Amino acid sequence: MSVLTNRNILIGISGGIAAYKCAELVRRLKDHQTNVRVVMTSAAKSFITPLTMQAVSGNPVADDLLDPAAEAAMGHIELAKWADLIVVAPASADVLARINAGMANDLLTTLILATDAPIALVPAMNQQMYKAPATVHNLAQLQQKQFHIWGPAQGEQACGDIGPGRMLEPAEILEHIQQQITAQDEATQSPQLLANTTVTITAGPTREALDPVRYISNHSSGKMGVALAQACLDLGAQVNLIHGPIQLPLPVNANAIAIESAQQMHDEALIHAKQSDIFIACAAVADYRPVDIADQKIKKSTDEITLRMVKNPDIVAAVAGLTEHRPFTVGFAAETQDVEKYAKDKMKRKKLDMICANDVSIAGQGFNSDNNALNVFWQNEHCSLPCASKTSLAMSLMKVIKQQFDNQK
Ligand code: C5P
Repeated sequence: MSVLTNRNILIGISGGIAAYKCAELVRRLKDHQTNVRVVMTSAAKSFITPLTMQAVSGNPVADDLLDPAAEAAMGHIELAKWADLIVVAPASADVLARINAGMANDLLTTLILATDAPIALVPAMNQQMYKAPATVHNLAQLQQKQFHIWGPAQGEQACGDIGPGRMLEPAEILEHIQQQITAQDEATQSPQLLANTTVTITAGPTREALDPVRYISNHSSGKMGVALAQACLDLGAQVNLIHGPIQLPLPVNANAIAIESAQQMHDEALIHAKQSDIFIACAAVADYRPVDIADQKIKKSTDEITLRMVKNPDIVAAVAGLTEHRPFTVGFAAETQDVEKYAKDKMKRKKLDMICANDVSIAGQGFNSDNNALNVFWQNEHCSLPCASKTSLAMSLMKVIKQQFDNQK
């Protein structure tokens, strides 16, 4: 028995050459005894036939909003309610635009408006169409509206172009579906685990100004901090998200506080940490800042210049050092060697309750990646959270944090 057994997955196919791979995807889902229903747009039928999809899914394929026979069998609202998860694969530029605009001009887009199930979009299109400002804008807005976006992959395209826009392979989509269903199960099993709890999270990089146009910063994407904020919200917490400049949609219900410098992050963190139960320092704070910020743009003159830098305040250590209203304080440690030793030293030195260590020397996880693995240490105990999407890792980590937070009370 797998996590997908007896789940109701609705596959929406829109018009794109990658549609032919959906037969394989549905076959793989059926291997897990998943109940699969397929909805196709009219353009999708030019790439793969409804008969093929009916044969592999074992169910009639729905493709018409106004078909009396199909409505009598399973009406569109019923179908929208039936789904545990809707996966639109391939999601063409056109269908993304229509979904983002909230249109309901065919069965698939109507179902998407009518469902309260999570919806995943698996984009597939020509690389130039993917990079077009309208598509970029639609995808960013869809992500902000809590749609899950899986892919696309890079590589050679059916049209001969090379670039981003290839649909993920069926095996990768299946893996995402498994992770998503697992995360949904976890959220329903512990929906209000963090009810009446306030969590403050720092995320992303800081920027340390040199002059009005230049700054020193780092490559942090803020993905882990944003995923933690979303997991806390899903578990019923109030969330303050103090973030540096990041290019990500922020969770809609978080109290997002945008800052630039480490000093600003420090000041906001101390205000909010004192009113919080849990503080999680996920930000990649710049260790030093220039001593002087020039009023005017620094002009190019000599071949060499020397910058004088001064240490920034350690935000998580300042929170952990609070003598009154101190929250349960969690830090992160990105290490490239002796992960356990350095992480434990850091936890002790900064007086943290817990530290989450990741080995950033391993390719495909950590900085800027969508995946991560963590070794979590507290007191004399430890647990390992294996490599997973930052979304599902954040949910697992919040459960570990909550358990230790309760133990310490
Ligand atoms: O010392 P290091 O930067 O490796 O420690 C990492 C942890 O400390 C992270 O949790 C990070 O958010 C936090 N930190 C901080 N303020 C700093 C430097 C790091 O809160 N100035």
